[in-house]
Amino acid sequence: MTRLVELEATGPRKLDPADIDDEKGDVAICQCGLSNSFPFCDGSHRHTEGEDSETTYVYEDGERRAVDRVVTADEG
Ligand code: FES
Repeated sequence: MTRLVELEATGPRKLDPADIDDEKGDVAICQCGLSNSFPFCDGSHRHTEGEDSETTYVYEDGERRAVDRVVTADEG
């Protein structure tokens, strides 16, 4: 499984004690790339349920689409 993720941030988010969720007592960092609160997990990873490990997916407007391959501008 591969996902194409576009990011706009130009620097890191430094965690501090204020980032700790009082109810949960922890901070969840997004590793799927789909969070609308990146770098924090907002539960959007649920959209990845059922992904096939051999398939590449693109997520747009909340919709998942399987693609043959992703071509970047660098590949010309
Ligand atoms: S791990 Fe990405 S939204 Fe939860």
